Amino acid sequence: MIMIYAHRGASKECPENTMPSFKRAKELGADGIECDAQLSLDGVPMIIHDKTLKRTTNGGKKYVKDLTFAELKQLDAGSWFSEDFKDTRIPSLEEFLVWVKPTVLLINIELKNYSLPYEGMEKKVVALIEKYGLEKRVTISSFNHESLRLIHKLNSQIETAPLYRANLYKAWKYAKKIKARALHPKYHNLDGKDIKGIKKHHVKVRPYTVNDPSWIKQFIDWGVDGLITDVPDLALAIYKKE
Ligand code: G3P
Ligand code: CA
Repeated sequence: MIMIYAHRGASKECPENTMPSFKRAKELGADGIECDAQLSLDGVPMIIHDKTLKRTTNGGKKYVKDLTFAELKQLDAGSWFSEDFKDTRIPSLEEFLVWVKPTVLLINIELKNYSLPYEGMEKKVVALIEKYGLEKRVTISSFNHESLRLIHKLNSQIETAPLYRANLYKAWKYAKKIKARALHPKYHNLDGKDIKGIKKHHVKVRPYTVNDPSWIKQFIDWGVDGLITDVPDLALAIYKKE
């Protein structure tokens, strides 16, 4: 079974990383949702991709980390995409987890703690996952692999998955070293041989962000465990035809 994850929700149809985007991904039949987490000034995990507010809100050039939860909640995170989504708010991670809990959706939380350290973020995110009993449905990914080691120490039930862009020699070995049960590589640098090697060692592999139909088909044929895509409906249609 290949699990199709909607990257930032149904981000082609709705403003990325917002509740409408997540709800639409569910309607489209995605198996899982990928989202990006950062911390507000007062330490609340929020779902937003960029370090600054400029591209996806009306908050200008300020950094997410420099505004409190209350201030972030004032911003419009929908109008940049379309007037139909005017006044859509930045969701907190907790708000998303409350919504996703009664569904059967899988959850991939990417911690955006690579260039900004966001001290204490791991504890806060793990505490929320535990609060809602979602340990078995969540994968935490990050380009900060030390952070993933810490997540594993905090709760070994939660699957971790390092994100990486370059080709990684014996990637499965690296995954085991950092106690990750999955790998989330950039799709360009991955081929059938790599996938076979990773799977042989019982590590899951879910390339990102695969939108091109011929690549989607290729990865399905190579037997990946999951695909992270902006076009979950297209990926599902291709997968069902196989
Ligand atoms: O899940 C992988 C992917 O989301 C990483 O890149 O920039 O889209 O967060 P980005
Ligand atoms: Ca991401």
